[in-house]
Amino acid sequence: MKFFLDTANVEDIKKINDLGLVDGVTTNPTIIAKEGRDFEEVIKEICSIVDGPVSAEVIGLTAEEMVSEARTISKWADNVVVKIPMTEDGLKAVHILSKEGIKTNVTLIFTVSQGLMAMKAGATFISPFVGRLEDIGVNANELIESLRDLIDMYGFDTEIIAASIRNTTHVENVALLGAHIATIPSNLFPSMMKHTLTDSGIATFLKDWEAFKSN
Ligand code: E4P
Repeated sequence: MKFFLDTANVEDIKKINDLGLVDGVTTNPTIIAKEGRDFEEVIKEICSIVDGPVSAEVIGLTAEEMVSEARTISKWADNVVVKIPMTEDGLKAVHILSKEGIKTNVTLIFTVSQGLMAMKAGATFISPFVGRLEDIGVNANELIESLRDLIDMYGFDTEIIAASIRNTTHVENVALLGAHIATIPSNLFPSMMKHTLTDSGIATFLKDWEAFKSN
């Protein structure tokens, strides 16, 4: 199970990368806009910090625009992956790009059919959105499980990036259901790391040690 960071904040990426927990990074136009920095500059910087895949999303909506943007983005770094929305034009673009050896991450996947079509078109990664499904009252567990079953059953090369992760339960669920990767917002890491019994356990150990030493 790999962890990607769902952020374009370079300081957060460096901090969590230092813990040995970062296998890649995902961004989207909203995440990039939050940083208020030049798109190309920030993607290049992230690619230089992280060894694994870094997703950068296209803006164009036609296959021609997506392919053209993807060709440019793919030259920014060896580990850059081009994020393409799950539309008819998106599938066409993924098909062309996969034949050129350009890695893609098909985003905004909400159904098994969408995932299956993206895999068949040649997506390197697919991103089913767990939190946004939950927002409309749908539990994403079945989707993640089914997508993993299809990959194993038919031998697709595609990896699942469970996206739109909002809490530690999401991370734990998608890990157990077979998602290859969870892309996690940096602010979730402290709650994933901590437990009150860990903190109180350390305090007790230290107190007992001090009492022993002073005897
Ligand atoms: C990452 O690939 C997605 O764009 C991101 O996880 C979406 O998260 P959100 O639904 O919390 O905006």
